[in-house]
Amino acid sequence: MYEKACRFFEEFTSQYQIEDDFYEVFTYSRKYIHSKTVVEYMNHLVKGKFQKDHDIQLAKTIAIFHDLGRFTQLEKYHSYNDTITHFDHAKESIRILKEANWFRKNQISKEEESILCCAIYFHNKWQIPSSVQEPWMTYSKLIRDADKLAILSVKEKQPIEKSPISEKVWQSFQNNELVQNKDKKTPTDFIIGTLSFLYDIHYEKSKKLIQEEKMMENWLQRVEGKIPPKQMEEIQKIIKEALEKRKENVR
Ligand SMILES: [Fe+2]
Repeated sequence: MYEKACRFFEEFTSQYQIEDDFYEVFTYSRKYIHSKTVVEYMNHLVKGKFQKDHDIQLAKTIAIFHDLGRFTQLEKYHSYNDTITHFDHAKESIRILKEANWFRKNQISKEEESILCCAIYFHNKWQIPSSVQEPWMTYSKLIRDADKLAILSVKEKQPIEKSPISEKVWQSFQNNELVQNKDKKTPTDFIIGTLSFLYDIHYEKSKKLIQEEKMMENWLQRVEGKIPPKQMEEIQKIIKEALEKRKENVR
């Protein structure tokens, strides 16, 4: 299944200009590379978790397809900001697959289709509703972790503008909650929002990677000197506490 998915991904993305401009914010190549990085993290997460090759392939297919809608979003709106563009790129990824008749053409069963669509649909929502059942829930959690790991692993080169943290963003961060996209207004909000990914990580393996690859430190560096030192100290303290909590959980 995954091989067929890759073929579709390559074919679909070949209509867009994929250039070596990863570090520009709104480019097709950024999402092309992101999708592949998500597959790598997904592969890491499912190793040892899933015994059946079928389950691994399903998880990797979700990963390569989850952001297909980003390509049409960029084409239409020249932006990836879902709030500003009023565009749900996850819904769009599903629409693209259905329009291409990918599920039928590749003899994907009804259950596999519903897992693929569910996980893709919930990858960009604030939360997965608790009503989602197994195995839909597991795949939805996996794609959310793999996606967040891929984003956190990026070492952005562009410095951000000095700007305040919006009140709602600060409140969510202090409450150990994932910052909602609609609340992000300033460049600093986006960094704090990314740091808040830590609160929506489902698997120990992901938490371990965040620590080993120093992903939090990498994003924290970006706001250094851009916000008051006291606030910086508080952020560092909150992150440290959140990570220590994780360590206790591991034991
Ligand atoms: Fe996405």
